[in-house]
Amino acid sequence: MGEPVKIAETMERISKEWLIPPIRRFAYLPYSLKSALQAVIEIGRLRNPKFVIDDDNIFTYVNMIRWVHGDEEMQCLNPITKEVVRGRLNAGIYIAGNTGTGKSWALEIMSEYTKIDNVKLAMLDTIRPLRWNNYRTDSICDEYTESGNINKYKEMGIVGFQDLGSEQQEALYMGNRVNVMRKILEHRGDFPNKITLITSNLPITHPKLTEAYGERVSSRLLEMCNYFEIKGKDRRKLK
Ligand SMILES: Nc1ncnc2c1ncn2[C@@H]1O[C@H](COP(=O)(O)OP(=O)(O)OP(=O)(O)O)[C@@H](O)[C@H]1O
Ligand SMILES: [Mg+2]
Repeated sequence: MGEPVKIAETMERISKEWLIPPIRRFAYLPYSLKSALQAVIEIGRLRNPKFVIDDDNIFTYVNMIRWVHGDEEMQCLNPITKEVVRGRLNAGIYIAGNTGTGKSWALEIMSEYTKIDNVKLAMLDTIRPLRWNNYRTDSICDEYTESGNINKYKEMGIVGFQDLGSEQQEALYMGNRVNVMRKILEHRGDFPNKITLITSNLPITHPKLTEAYGERVSSRLLEMCNYFEIKGKDRRKLK
């Protein structure tokens, strides 16, 4: 017989653990939205002098700025009705839009923008910067084919996935066929202390997402992410 189970103590520990919010955001307020947009434009112009914030992308940039600052005014789109609704600071970001509309750049530029104020957040009891690296989903599949390992993408606290839906459905490693992004997203969706940012040509409610990754993933995506769409022309052709 080991130590008697100390029920009261155990209960207290469990309730404390459950009380720790998985993610806590800090408010980097006040800030001027105008200056913030100017800073984003300057970062964008370092990459492409023609970088603009215009009618097609301003809603996404303004609300990603609010998201970064931990500003409760943040808004996003209802994925079904496309109405403007209140955003969730503890959730990630999903940007849909046609090719070349500037989705990938939005994730990359906004990760740079977080460095200006060195924005931080708490994930369980760890304080860390609100910064993320962005990975193409097809490269993640290639990595699985080479190494058989995708744990890194399941475990990263914050991560950006570029071009969800464009990668091959299954990747093969030593006879194991795996739907790589399905595994990663299912896992991340089960942990409320993770933040996932995604770009895709597919709207978040598109049946192709359910076909490719299953109901469990498509329902988790809605919970995991604030939804945005960037409209407009292919900016690669406007160069
Ligand atoms: N806000 C912007 N203003 C002007 N040019 C931009 C802007 N954003 C992106 N671009 C230009 O458009 C090109 C395409 O942008 P990006 O790669 O972000 O598109 P995307 O929406 O991710 O496309 P895809 O769906 O093909 O992945 C970039 O290489 C860049 O030159
Ligand atoms: Mg892209």
